[in-house]
Amino acid sequence: MRKIAMITGATSGIGEASANIFAKNGYHLIITGRREERLQKLAEQLKVDYKIDVLPLVFDVRKLEEVKAAVEVLNDDWKQIDVLLNNAGLSIGLEPIQQGGFEDWETMIDTNVKGLLYVTRLISPLMVQRKSGHIINLGSIAGKETYANGNVYCATKHAVDSLNKAMRIDLLPHNIKVTAINPGAVETEFSIVRFKGDVEKAKNVYKGFEPLTATDIADTIYYVASLPPHVNINDLTIMPTAQASAVYWNKVS
Ligand SMILES: NC(=O)c1ccc[n+]([C@@H]2O[C@H](COP(=O)([O-])OP(=O)(O)OC[C@H]3O[C@@H](n4cnc5c(N)ncnc54)[C@H](OP(=O)(O)O)[C@@H]3O)[C@@H](O)[C@H]2O)c1
Repeated sequence: MRKIAMITGATSGIGEASANIFAKNGYHLIITGRREERLQKLAEQLKVDYKIDVLPLVFDVRKLEEVKAAVEVLNDDWKQIDVLLNNAGLSIGLEPIQQGGFEDWETMIDTNVKGLLYVTRLISPLMVQRKSGHIINLGSIAGKETYANGNVYCATKHAVDSLNKAMRIDLLPHNIKVTAINPGAVETEFSIVRFKGDVEKAKNVYKGFEPLTATDIADTIYYVASLPPHVNINDLTIMPTAQASAVYWNKVS
């Protein structure tokens, strides 16, 4: 049977790795992100490597009109979405609350909370109509705990944690699974974005221990998505072995 996954934020990191693993397993894909060139390149690669159909949609999850316009292009075939991976997200800045950047806060809240809501609001009715589907939300250990200077990023991921629970309740009568995946440190472009392009500073985050890879998380996401229809993982926290919590690390200096 033809299966479709929609993955937001597929231009790098966890989203890109997830696109590869779903494609390898025969899913047709809707992939999204703002960086058009990367998205087109990934779409071509997936089509060639895995002989699947890929629909790349360029939009900014913060802009409701763009999200609406993107969803409107879906024809009846592409509307049969089995898995929605709400992955697009970011952290910008790492400052104490009294020094935080207003613009950074707006960006995190608009992307991680409002963007996830916009996509979910527009895609979930398609699942409700079919009485089938699985929404997988990228939370974080930052949505379970709070760490120094993580303030607003942690707040947005706590919101995802709460929305994940709320979606599961509201979509329960419609046979739709809802899962949160909450990773600890994963080496992607995440820290480069957090430190606004400072690659050296970003590299330091992963020094002295072995972080998770995007593929580690993608494998877990695929596992969760491939369980039998009567089984749902509500919430899954996945950490590098060297990280016990948001603050306890086993690093070699
Ligand atoms: N890396 C970690 O340690 C870690 C830990 C826990 C949770 N997470 C979560 O995992 C998710 C993926 O992050 P990652 O680690 O894979 O980071 P990443 O490599 O920076 O990827 C982030 C993805 O989100 C997309 N994105 C960001 N803002 C967007 C916007 N306004 N509109 C559309 N797409 C947007 C980016 O695409 P464009 O820039 O092309 O738009 C990119 O594809 C995020 O939700 C993050 O919070 C990461």
